[in-house]
Amino acid sequence: MRVAMIGTGYVGLVSGACFADFGHVVTCIDKDAAKIARLKAGEMPIFEPGLDQLVATNVREGRLFFATDAAEAVREADAVFIAVGTPSRRGDGYADLTYVYAAAEEIAGQLDGFTVVITKSTVPVGTGDEVQAIIAKARPGADFAVVSNPEFLREGAAIADFKRPDRVVVGTEDERARAVMRELYRPLFLNETPLLFTGRRTSELIKYAANAFLAVKITFINEMADLCEAVGADVQEVSRGMGLDNRIGRKFLHAGPGYGGSCFPKDTLALVRTAADAGAPTRLVEATVQVNDARKKKMAQKVVEALDGDVAGKTIGVLGLTFKPNTDDMRDAPALDIIPALQAMGARIQAFDPEGMHEAEKLLPDVAFCTGPYEAAEDAHAIVIITEWDQFRALDFNRLRLTMRSHVLVDLRNVYRPEDMRGQGFRYTSVGRRGPRTT
Ligand SMILES: NC(=O)c1ccc[n+]([C@@H]2O[C@H](COP(=O)([O-])OP(=O)(O)OC[C@H]3O[C@@H](n4cnc5c(N)ncnc54)[C@H](O)[C@@H]3O)[C@@H](O)[C@H]2O)c1
Repeated sequence: MRVAMIGTGYVGLVSGACFADFGHVVTCIDKDAAKIARLKAGEMPIFEPGLDQLVATNVREGRLFFATDAAEAVREADAVFIAVGTPSRRGDGYADLTYVYAAAEEIAGQLDGFTVVITKSTVPVGTGDEVQAIIAKARPGADFAVVSNPEFLREGAAIADFKRPDRVVVGTEDERARAVMRELYRPLFLNETPLLFTGRRTSELIKYAANAFLAVKITFINEMADLCEAVGADVQEVSRGMGLDNRIGRKFLHAGPGYGGSCFPKDTLALVRTAADAGAPTRLVEATVQVNDARKKKMAQKVVEALDGDVAGKTIGVLGLTFKPNTDDMRDAPALDIIPALQAMGARIQAFDPEGMHEAEKLLPDVAFCTGPYEAAEDAHAIVIITEWDQFRALDFNRLRLTMRSHVLVDLRNVYRPEDMRGQGFRYTSVGRRGPRTT
Protein backbone atom coordinates (compact mmCIF):
# COMPACT_ATOMS: atom_id res chain seq x y z
CA MET A 1 0.00 0.00 0.00
CA ARG A 2 1.05 3.59 -0.46
CA VAL A 3 0.83 5.64 2.71
CA ALA A 4 1.08 9.37 3.40
CA MET A 5 1.70 10.29 7.04
CA ILE A 6 0.81 13.90 7.82
CA GLY A 7 2.82 14.93 10.89
CA THR A 8 6.22 13.40 11.60
CA GLY A 9 6.43 13.66 15.39
CA TYR A 10 6.70 10.90 17.99
CA VAL A 11 3.67 9.09 16.57
CA GLY A 12 3.96 9.94 12.87
CA LEU A 13 7.63 9.05 12.56
CA VAL A 14 7.38 5.79 14.49
CA SER A 15 4.16 4.70 12.74
CA GLY A 16 5.53 5.71 9.33
CA ALA A 17 8.78 3.82 9.85
CA CYS A 18 6.94 0.74 11.16
CA PHE A 19 4.46 0.71 8.26
CA ALA A 20 7.44 0.94 5.89
CA ASP A 21 9.02 -1.97 7.75
CA PHE A 22 5.78 -3.92 7.19
CA GLY A 23 6.48 -3.47 3.45
CA HIS A 24 4.33 -0.46 2.58
CA VAL A 25 5.69 2.58 0.77
CA VAL A 26 5.45 5.52 3.16
CA THR A 27 6.04 9.25 2.89
CA CYS A 28 6.27 11.09 6.21
CA ILE A 29 5.32 14.74 5.82
CA ASP A 30 5.91 17.61 8.20
CA LYS A 31 5.52 21.38 8.03
CA ASP A 32 8.67 21.71 10.08
CA ALA A 33 11.28 22.02 7.33
CA ALA A 34 14.20 21.68 9.77
CA LYS A 35 12.80 18.36 11.00
CA ILE A 36 12.46 17.00 7.45
CA ALA A 37 15.94 18.25 6.53
CA ARG A 38 17.42 16.39 9.51
CA LEU A 39 15.57 13.21 8.62
CA LYS A 40 16.75 13.43 5.03
CA ALA A 41 20.29 13.79 6.37
CA GLY A 42 19.81 10.61 8.42
CA GLU A 43 19.47 12.39 11.78
CA MET A 44 16.67 11.63 14.24
CA PRO A 45 14.71 14.67 15.47
CA ILE A 46 13.63 12.76 18.61
CA PHE A 47 15.16 10.18 20.90
CA GLU A 48 13.39 6.84 20.66
CA PRO A 49 15.34 3.59 21.14
CA GLY A 50 15.91 1.72 17.87
CA LEU A 51 14.29 4.36 15.69
CA ASP A 52 17.49 5.47 13.92
CA GLN A 53 18.17 1.96 12.63
CA LEU A 54 14.57 1.32 11.62
CA VAL A 55 14.44 4.59 9.67
CA ALA A 56 17.85 4.03 8.05
CA THR A 57 16.96 0.50 6.91
CA ASN A 58 13.66 1.51 5.35
CA VAL A 59 15.09 4.60 3.66
CA ARG A 60 17.86 2.43 2.22
CA GLU A 61 15.36 -0.11 0.94
CA GLY A 62 13.33 2.57 -0.81
CA ARG A 63 10.17 2.31 1.27
CA LEU A 64 10.41 5.42 3.47
CA PHE A 65 10.50 9.01 2.22
CA PHE A 66 10.28 12.45 3.79
CA ALA A 67 8.69 15.64 2.44
CA THR A 68 7.50 19.05 3.55
CA ASP A 69 4.73 19.15 0.95
CA ALA A 70 1.89 16.66 1.14
CA ALA A 71 0.61 17.04 -2.43
CA GLU A 72 2.39 14.29 -4.32
CA ALA A 73 2.28 11.67 -1.56
CA VAL A 74 -1.44 12.25 -0.92
CA ARG A 75 -2.31 12.01 -4.61
CA GLU A 76 -0.64 8.62 -4.83
CA ALA A 77 -1.79 7.31 -1.46
CA ASP A 78 -4.24 4.52 -0.67
CA ALA A 79 -4.17 5.65 2.95
CA VAL A 80 -3.48 9.11 4.41
CA PHE A 81 -2.85 9.27 8.15
CA ILE A 82 -3.33 12.42 10.18
CA ALA A 83 -0.79 12.25 13.04
CA VAL A 84 -0.47 15.93 13.95
CA GLY A 85 -0.51 17.28 17.51
CA THR A 86 -3.74 17.82 19.48
CA PRO A 87 -2.47 19.84 22.46
CA SER A 88 -4.64 21.32 25.19
CA ARG A 89 -6.20 24.57 24.08
CA ARG A 90 -4.70 27.30 26.20
CA GLY A 91 -7.05 28.42 28.93
CA ASP A 92 -9.88 25.91 28.64
CA GLY A 93 -8.40 22.41 28.29
CA TYR A 94 -10.33 21.40 25.15
CA ALA A 95 -8.26 19.52 22.58
CA ASP A 96 -6.96 22.04 20.05
CA LEU A 97 -8.02 20.62 16.68
CA THR A 98 -6.56 23.41 14.54
CA TYR A 99 -3.78 21.20 13.18
CA VAL A 100 -6.11 18.29 12.45
CA TYR A 101 -8.56 20.46 10.51
CA ALA A 102 -5.75 22.23 8.63
CA ALA A 103 -4.39 18.82 7.62
CA ALA A 104 -7.87 17.76 6.44
CA GLU A 105 -8.07 20.88 4.24
CA GLU A 106 -4.67 20.14 2.72
CA ILE A 107 -5.52 16.51 2.07
CA ALA A 108 -8.85 17.39 0.45
CA GLY A 109 -7.18 19.35 -2.31
CA GLN A 110 -5.04 16.41 -3.39
CA LEU A 111 -7.25 13.32 -3.15
CA ASP A 112 -7.14 11.20 -6.27
CA GLY A 113 -9.10 7.93 -6.50
CA PHE A 114 -10.55 6.11 -3.48
CA THR A 115 -8.50 7.14 -0.44
CA VAL A 116 -8.86 6.27 3.22
CA VAL A 117 -8.17 9.23 5.52
CA ILE A 118 -7.23 7.98 8.97
CA THR A 119 -7.07 10.01 12.17
CA LYS A 120 -4.25 8.63 14.28
CA SER A 121 -4.06 11.75 16.41
CA THR A 122 -6.00 11.52 19.67
CA VAL A 123 -9.19 13.44 18.92
CA PRO A 124 -12.48 14.02 20.75
CA VAL A 125 -15.62 12.17 19.77
CA GLY A 126 -17.10 13.64 16.62
CA THR A 127 -13.82 14.88 15.11
CA GLY A 128 -14.02 12.24 12.37
CA ASP A 129 -17.43 13.61 11.38
CA GLU A 130 -15.92 17.09 11.13
CA VAL A 131 -12.91 15.88 9.09
CA GLN A 132 -15.34 14.16 6.73
CA ALA A 133 -17.41 17.36 6.41
CA ILE A 134 -14.32 19.50 5.73
CA ILE A 135 -13.12 17.21 2.94
CA ALA A 136 -16.59 16.79 1.43
CA LYS A 137 -17.07 20.56 1.38
CA ALA A 138 -13.66 21.26 -0.15
CA ARG A 139 -13.94 18.43 -2.72
CA PRO A 140 -17.55 17.56 -3.47
CA GLY A 141 -17.64 14.19 -5.18
CA ALA A 142 -14.24 13.02 -3.90
CA ASP A 143 -14.11 9.28 -3.21
CA PHE A 144 -12.88 8.84 0.35
CA ALA A 145 -13.68 7.40 3.78
CA VAL A 146 -12.63 8.81 7.15
CA VAL A 147 -11.48 6.26 9.72
CA SER A 148 -10.48 6.54 13.37
CA ASN A 149 -7.39 4.52 14.28
CA PRO A 150 -6.06 5.78 17.61
CA GLU A 151 -2.47 5.06 18.55
CA PHE A 152 -1.56 3.40 21.85
CA LEU A 153 2.24 3.31 21.61
CA ARG A 154 4.33 4.42 24.59
CA GLU A 155 7.34 6.63 24.10
CA GLY A 156 10.49 4.75 25.03
CA ALA A 157 9.00 1.45 23.81
CA ALA A 158 7.26 2.83 20.75
CA ILE A 159 8.55 0.47 18.07
CA ALA A 160 7.79 -2.70 20.02
CA ASP A 161 4.38 -1.29 20.95
CA PHE A 162 3.58 -0.49 17.33
CA LYS A 163 4.73 -3.84 16.02
CA ARG A 164 3.29 -5.95 18.82
CA PRO A 165 0.30 -4.01 20.12
CA ASP A 166 -2.26 -5.47 22.50
CA ARG A 167 -4.89 -4.50 19.93
CA VAL A 168 -5.51 -2.26 16.95
CA VAL A 169 -8.71 -0.24 17.11
CA VAL A 170 -10.33 0.77 13.83
CA GLY A 171 -13.46 2.90 13.77
CA THR A 172 -15.35 2.89 10.49
CA GLU A 173 -18.57 1.64 8.97
CA ASP A 174 -17.13 1.67 5.44
CA GLU A 175 -16.41 -1.82 4.08
CA ARG A 176 -13.83 -0.60 1.52
CA ALA A 177 -11.99 1.29 4.26
CA ARG A 178 -12.00 -1.82 6.44
CA ALA A 179 -10.30 -3.79 3.68
CA VAL A 180 -7.57 -1.14 3.38
CA MET A 181 -7.04 -1.12 7.17
CA ARG A 182 -6.80 -4.92 7.20
CA GLU A 183 -4.18 -4.80 4.48
CA LEU A 184 -2.17 -2.08 6.27
CA TYR A 185 -2.00 -4.09 9.49
CA ARG A 186 -1.78 -7.52 7.84
CA PRO A 187 1.69 -8.37 9.26
CA LEU A 188 0.17 -8.19 12.74
CA PHE A 189 -2.17 -11.09 11.98
CA LEU A 190 0.89 -13.36 12.21
CA ASN A 191 1.10 -12.70 15.94
CA GLU A 192 -2.68 -12.70 16.19
CA THR A 193 -3.10 -9.10 17.26
CA PRO A 194 -6.82 -8.43 17.73
CA LEU A 195 -8.08 -5.95 15.15
CA LEU A 196 -11.10 -4.38 16.79
CA PHE A 197 -13.57 -2.86 14.34
CA THR A 198 -16.00 -0.40 15.88
CA GLY A 199 -18.00 2.65 14.94
CA ARG A 200 -15.94 5.80 14.45
CA ARG A 201 -17.21 7.61 17.54
CA THR A 202 -16.68 4.55 19.69
CA SER A 203 -13.10 4.24 18.47
CA GLU A 204 -12.42 7.89 19.25
CA LEU A 205 -13.74 7.38 22.76
CA ILE A 206 -11.79 4.15 23.37
CA LYS A 207 -8.53 6.09 23.22
CA TYR A 208 -9.62 8.66 25.81
CA ALA A 209 -11.23 6.03 28.01
CA ALA A 210 -8.04 3.95 28.01
CA ASN A 211 -5.75 6.88 28.82
CA ALA A 212 -8.08 8.24 31.49
CA PHE A 213 -8.32 4.81 33.12
CA LEU A 214 -4.54 4.53 33.33
CA ALA A 215 -4.30 8.07 34.72
CA VAL A 216 -6.89 7.18 37.37
CA LYS A 217 -4.93 4.03 38.26
CA ILE A 218 -1.68 5.96 38.73
CA THR A 219 -3.45 8.62 40.75
CA PHE A 220 -5.09 5.97 42.91
CA ILE A 221 -1.76 4.46 43.94
CA ASN A 222 -0.35 7.95 44.51
CA GLU A 223 -3.16 8.65 46.97
CA MET A 224 -2.45 5.30 48.64
CA ALA A 225 1.19 6.42 48.91
CA ASP A 226 0.13 9.51 50.84
CA LEU A 227 -1.99 7.34 53.08
CA CYS A 228 0.93 4.94 53.61
CA GLU A 229 3.09 7.83 54.73
CA ALA A 230 0.41 8.97 57.15
CA VAL A 231 -0.18 5.55 58.72
CA GLY A 232 3.29 4.00 58.47
CA ALA A 233 2.63 1.47 55.67
CA ASP A 234 4.72 0.71 52.58
CA VAL A 235 3.18 1.56 49.20
CA GLN A 236 5.55 -0.73 47.29
CA GLU A 237 4.07 -3.65 49.17
CA VAL A 238 0.52 -2.34 48.92
CA SER A 239 1.04 -2.06 45.17
CA ARG A 240 2.43 -5.58 44.92
CA GLY A 241 -0.34 -6.96 47.07
CA MET A 242 -2.93 -5.30 44.87
CA GLY A 243 -1.25 -5.94 41.54
CA LEU A 244 -0.91 -9.68 42.00
CA ASP A 245 -4.70 -9.79 41.82
CA ASN A 246 -5.28 -10.48 38.13
CA ARG A 247 -8.41 -8.39 38.13
CA ILE A 248 -6.26 -5.38 39.02
CA GLY A 249 -2.90 -6.10 37.37
CA ARG A 250 0.53 -4.77 38.33
CA LYS A 251 1.05 -2.14 35.67
CA PHE A 252 0.51 1.56 36.33
CA LEU A 253 0.53 0.94 40.08
CA HIS A 254 3.87 2.57 40.78
CA ALA A 255 3.68 5.54 43.14
CA GLY A 256 5.62 8.62 42.10
CA PRO A 257 5.51 12.37 41.60
CA GLY A 258 2.31 12.35 39.49
CA TYR A 259 1.76 11.56 35.83
CA GLY A 260 3.04 13.88 33.11
CA GLY A 261 3.93 13.53 29.46
CA SER A 262 2.43 14.45 26.15
CA CYS A 263 -0.78 12.44 26.56
CA PHE A 264 -2.30 11.84 30.01
CA PRO A 265 -2.53 15.49 31.17
CA LYS A 266 -4.09 16.79 27.97
CA ASP A 267 -6.24 13.74 27.28
CA THR A 268 -7.78 13.60 30.76
CA LEU A 269 -8.58 17.28 30.52
CA ALA A 270 -10.09 16.95 27.05
CA LEU A 271 -12.23 13.99 28.18
CA VAL A 272 -13.51 16.01 31.13
CA ARG A 273 -14.55 18.79 28.71
CA THR A 274 -16.20 16.41 26.23
CA ALA A 275 -18.10 14.64 28.98
CA ALA A 276 -19.29 17.86 30.63
CA ASP A 277 -20.49 19.21 27.28
CA ALA A 278 -22.33 15.97 26.61
CA GLY A 279 -24.09 16.24 29.97
CA ALA A 280 -22.42 13.06 31.26
CA PRO A 281 -19.66 14.37 33.55
CA THR A 282 -16.76 12.04 34.41
CA ARG A 283 -16.30 12.91 38.07
CA LEU A 284 -13.57 10.34 38.66
CA VAL A 285 -11.49 11.81 35.87
CA GLU A 286 -12.17 15.36 37.09
CA ALA A 287 -10.87 14.40 40.54
CA THR A 288 -7.87 12.67 38.98
CA VAL A 289 -6.89 15.82 37.10
CA GLN A 290 -7.09 17.90 40.27
CA VAL A 291 -5.30 15.40 42.50
CA ASN A 292 -2.48 14.98 40.00
CA ASP A 293 -1.96 18.72 39.51
CA ALA A 294 -1.79 19.23 43.25
CA ARG A 295 0.58 16.29 43.65
CA LYS A 296 3.20 17.62 41.25
CA LYS A 297 3.27 20.85 43.26
CA LYS A 298 3.41 18.96 46.56
CA MET A 299 6.58 17.15 45.51
CA ALA A 300 8.61 20.35 45.89
CA GLN A 301 7.42 20.48 49.50
CA LYS A 302 8.75 16.97 50.04
CA VAL A 303 12.19 18.19 49.03
CA VAL A 304 11.89 21.19 51.35
CA GLU A 305 11.00 18.92 54.27
CA ALA A 306 13.96 16.67 53.51
CA LEU A 307 16.14 19.76 53.84
CA ASP A 308 14.76 20.68 57.27
CA GLY A 309 12.10 23.06 55.97
CA ASP A 310 14.33 25.48 54.11
CA VAL A 311 15.93 25.36 50.67
CA ALA A 312 16.89 29.04 50.40
CA GLY A 313 20.50 29.35 49.30
CA LYS A 314 20.86 25.56 49.10
CA THR A 315 22.06 23.61 46.08
CA ILE A 316 19.90 20.76 44.83
CA GLY A 317 21.10 18.23 42.29
CA VAL A 318 18.25 16.94 40.13
CA LEU A 319 18.60 13.58 38.36
CA GLY A 320 16.13 13.09 35.51
CA LEU A 321 13.97 15.73 33.83
CA THR A 322 11.89 13.95 31.19
CA PHE A 323 8.43 12.69 32.15
CA LYS A 324 9.70 9.11 32.02
CA PRO A 325 12.93 7.31 31.04
CA ASN A 326 13.97 6.48 27.47
CA THR A 327 12.49 9.56 25.87
CA ASP A 328 13.57 13.16 25.39
CA ASP A 329 9.96 14.35 25.75
CA MET A 330 9.59 17.11 28.34
CA ARG A 331 5.89 17.85 27.76
CA ASP A 332 4.13 18.31 31.12
CA ALA A 333 6.99 16.57 32.94
CA PRO A 334 6.73 16.78 36.76
CA ALA A 335 10.21 18.40 36.72
CA LEU A 336 8.59 21.48 35.15
CA ASP A 337 6.53 21.97 38.34
CA ILE A 338 9.04 20.82 40.91
CA ILE A 339 12.11 22.75 39.77
CA PRO A 340 10.51 26.23 39.41
CA ALA A 341 8.80 25.77 42.81
CA LEU A 342 12.16 25.03 44.45
CA GLN A 343 13.78 27.95 42.63
CA ALA A 344 11.01 30.25 43.84
CA MET A 345 11.94 29.25 47.39
CA GLY A 346 15.56 30.23 46.77
CA ALA A 347 17.14 26.89 45.81
CA ARG A 348 19.93 26.66 43.27
CA ILE A 349 19.30 23.79 40.83
CA GLN A 350 21.90 21.78 38.95
CA ALA A 351 20.45 19.02 36.83
CA PHE A 352 21.27 16.13 34.57
CA ASP A 353 19.14 14.08 32.19
CA PRO A 354 20.57 11.58 29.68
CA GLU A 355 18.37 12.72 26.74
CA GLY A 356 16.09 15.55 27.84
CA MET A 357 18.46 18.47 28.43
CA HIS A 358 18.21 19.91 24.95
CA GLU A 359 14.46 20.38 25.40
CA ALA A 360 14.74 21.20 29.12
CA GLU A 361 17.11 24.10 28.46
CA LYS A 362 14.30 25.90 26.64
CA LEU A 363 11.81 25.35 29.45
CA LEU A 364 13.82 25.68 32.67
CA PRO A 365 15.65 28.98 33.06
CA ASP A 366 18.45 29.45 35.61
CA VAL A 367 19.21 25.74 35.91
CA ALA A 368 22.85 24.67 35.69
CA PHE A 369 22.83 21.70 33.30
CA CYS A 370 25.49 19.10 34.04
CA THR A 371 27.30 16.40 32.12
CA GLY A 372 26.43 13.56 34.47
CA PRO A 373 24.88 12.62 37.82
CA TYR A 374 28.08 13.21 39.80
CA GLU A 375 28.51 16.72 38.45
CA ALA A 376 24.88 17.41 39.39
CA ALA A 377 25.67 16.19 42.92
CA GLU A 378 28.77 18.37 43.34
CA ASP A 379 28.51 20.52 46.48
CA ALA A 380 24.78 19.73 46.61
CA HIS A 381 22.85 19.75 49.87
CA ALA A 382 20.52 17.12 48.41
CA ILE A 383 19.92 15.11 45.28
CA VAL A 384 16.44 14.47 43.95
CA ILE A 385 15.63 11.64 41.56
CA ILE A 386 12.69 12.79 39.42
CA THR A 387 12.99 10.30 36.53
CA GLU A 388 14.10 6.68 36.95
CA TRP A 389 16.64 6.40 34.13
CA ASP A 390 18.63 3.14 34.38
CA GLN A 391 21.85 5.02 35.01
CA PHE A 392 20.43 6.40 38.28
CA ARG A 393 19.60 2.93 39.56
CA ALA A 394 23.14 2.02 40.57
CA LEU A 395 24.72 5.27 41.72
CA ASP A 396 28.14 5.15 43.36
CA PHE A 397 27.26 6.36 46.85
CA ASN A 398 30.89 6.57 47.97
CA ARG A 399 31.50 9.01 45.16
CA LEU A 400 28.33 10.94 46.02
CA ARG A 401 29.26 11.17 49.70
CA LEU A 402 32.62 12.66 48.80
CA THR A 403 31.21 15.26 46.44
CA MET A 404 27.99 16.32 48.23
CA ARG A 405 27.78 18.93 50.95
CA SER A 406 25.15 17.00 52.92
CA HIS A 407 23.95 13.47 52.35
CA VAL A 408 20.28 13.83 51.56
CA LEU A 409 18.53 11.83 48.83
CA VAL A 410 14.93 12.44 47.78
CA ASP A 411 13.85 9.53 45.61
CA LEU A 412 10.53 10.39 43.95
CA ARG A 413 10.50 7.07 42.02
CA ASN A 414 11.32 4.65 44.85
CA VAL A 415 14.37 3.40 42.97
CA TYR A 416 16.26 2.55 46.17
CA ARG A 417 15.40 0.71 49.37
CA PRO A 418 15.26 2.71 52.59
CA GLU A 419 17.37 0.18 54.53
CA ASP A 420 20.12 0.22 51.87
CA MET A 421 20.22 4.01 51.93
CA ARG A 422 20.48 4.00 55.70
CA GLY A 423 23.45 1.68 55.30
CA GLN A 424 25.01 4.17 52.89
CA GLY A 425 24.69 6.96 55.45
CA PHE A 426 22.09 8.92 53.51
CA ARG A 427 19.04 10.67 54.89
CA TYR A 428 16.53 9.18 52.52
CA THR A 429 13.03 10.27 51.57
CA SER A 430 10.89 8.34 49.12
CA VAL A 431 7.23 8.08 48.17
CA GLY A 432 4.77 6.23 50.38
CA ARG A 433 7.20 4.30 52.51
CA ARG A 434 7.42 4.32 56.30
CA GLY A 435 6.76 7.88 57.23
CA PRO A 436 7.51 11.12 55.40
CA ARG A 437 11.19 10.74 56.09
CA THR A 438 12.98 7.42 56.42
CA THR A 439 16.34 7.89 58.05
N1 LIG B 1 3.48 10.95 21.87
C1 LIG B 1 2.83 9.85 22.21
O1 LIG B 1 3.33 9.03 22.98
C2 LIG B 1 1.45 9.57 21.68
C3 LIG B 1 0.89 8.29 21.86
C4 LIG B 1 -0.38 8.05 21.34
C5 LIG B 1 -1.08 9.05 20.69
N2 LIG B 1 -0.52 10.30 20.56
C6 LIG B 1 -1.29 11.31 19.84
O2 LIG B 1 -0.75 11.45 18.53
C7 LIG B 1 -0.82 12.79 18.08
C8 LIG B 1 0.56 13.30 17.72
O3 LIG B 1 1.38 13.30 18.88
P1 LIG B 1 2.95 13.48 18.80
O4 LIG B 1 3.47 13.26 20.17
O5 LIG B 1 3.49 12.66 17.69
O6 LIG B 1 3.06 15.04 18.42
P2 LIG B 1 4.33 15.85 17.91
O7 LIG B 1 4.13 17.23 18.38
O8 LIG B 1 5.57 15.12 18.28
O9 LIG B 1 4.22 15.79 16.32
C9 LIG B 1 3.25 16.44 15.57
C10 LIG B 1 3.90 16.91 14.26
O10 LIG B 1 2.90 17.33 13.35
C11 LIG B 1 3.43 18.38 12.57
N3 LIG B 1 2.33 19.08 11.90
C12 LIG B 1 1.36 19.84 12.43
N4 LIG B 1 0.50 20.25 11.47
C13 LIG B 1 0.93 19.72 10.30
C14 LIG B 1 0.46 19.77 8.95
N5 LIG B 1 -0.65 20.41 8.63
N6 LIG B 1 1.17 19.11 8.01
C15 LIG B 1 2.29 18.44 8.34
N7 LIG B 1 2.77 18.36 9.59
C16 LIG B 1 2.11 18.98 10.56
C17 LIG B 1 4.22 19.18 13.58
O11 LIG B 1 5.18 20.02 12.95
C18 LIG B 1 4.85 18.08 14.43
O12 LIG B 1 6.13 17.71 13.94
C19 LIG B 1 -1.48 13.56 19.24
O13 LIG B 1 -2.85 13.65 19.00
C20 LIG B 1 -1.20 12.69 20.44
O14 LIG B 1 -2.17 12.85 21.44
C21 LIG B 1 0.72 10.56 21.02
